[in-house]
Amino acid sequence: MTSTADLYGDNVGATLATTVYSRATAGERYRIPGWRDAQARDVWERLVELGRAAGSDPNDLVLTGKSNVAGTAWRSMAMDARVRQFAADHEATKIQVVTLGVGLCNRASRLADLDASWFGIDRTKVLELRSRLIPEDDTQLIDASVTEPGWIDGVDAAVPTVFVAEGLLMYLTRDEVTQILTDIGRHMSAPARFVCDSHHASIIRRPTRSQITRRTGAVYSFGIEDSRHLAALAPGWRAVGDDDTCSPIGVGMKIASGVFRMLRGGVLYGVKTIELSPR
Ligand SMILES: C[S@@+](CC[C@H](N)C(=O)[O-])C[C@H]1O[C@@H](n2cnc3c(N)ncnc32)[C@H](O)[C@@H]1O
Repeated sequence: MTSTADLYGDNVGATLATTVYSRATAGERYRIPGWRDAQARDVWERLVELGRAAGSDPNDLVLTGKSNVAGTAWRSMAMDARVRQFAADHEATKIQVVTLGVGLCNRASRLADLDASWFGIDRTKVLELRSRLIPEDDTQLIDASVTEPGWIDGVDAAVPTVFVAEGLLMYLTRDEVTQILTDIGRHMSAPARFVCDSHHASIIRRPTRSQITRRTGAVYSFGIEDSRHLAALAPGWRAVGDDDTCSPIGVGMKIASGVFRMLRGGVLYGVKTIELSPR
């Protein structure tokens, strides 16, 4: 019998099942305008087949509630738009898109029209799984932990680059997130953008046992108020914008997000975009 560790490496690796499941199913289940991801559907089916054959059904790992499923699609859409915007700002050049904790992310297929080189960083087991499930994808895979030195060495510092961290930062510590931003700031000479999703800091109590913890064992650790606070973690960064990806999920989430904003300031959960100031 195969364990989740055999397939995904560790508890955080196993969280990739929920993201691909959500992108595969959200469009039809919740009629999200503009969201259809045919490749995610194929990849999810392949994952279920492979997992079941190995005795570890990925359905046992996923969160199927509307806030997670629709919320993942809304956040992926917001991140796609932020990547597209950066490409438009640098339309004269081929850009790099570097995904930290790439899992089974297939943004490269959704944004196939961009003039971009795609890189994906993750740990060994996840990259083995990805290569089996998406053999048609030509993302250049880098076997590394983004919390260890050297993860950025394969990225060309002279090419405008978007770094994307989707569904990742909440599993890292504040020091690790700060180090990642510092690493990017030291490495890049060309313009760089960092796009991530996160909860507001005030709802992450360390360590936070969420629904995903019950499913996978992975524990939330990091949250941040908004893009200004994120940019302030390391030298050279400035805020570009915040996308509230809770509100579009439905009326209840819109009210919750609005009340939260009034009481605390900042976004309950959403996409944050920051850029390195030109040197
Ligand atoms: C929730 S999944 C998200 C996957 C992908 N970004 C997506 O949106 O489909 C989190 C991913 O981060 C990866 N990850 C977690 N910690 C990491 C680290 N220190 N270095 C590289 N990857 C990491 C996990 O292996 C997993 O693939």
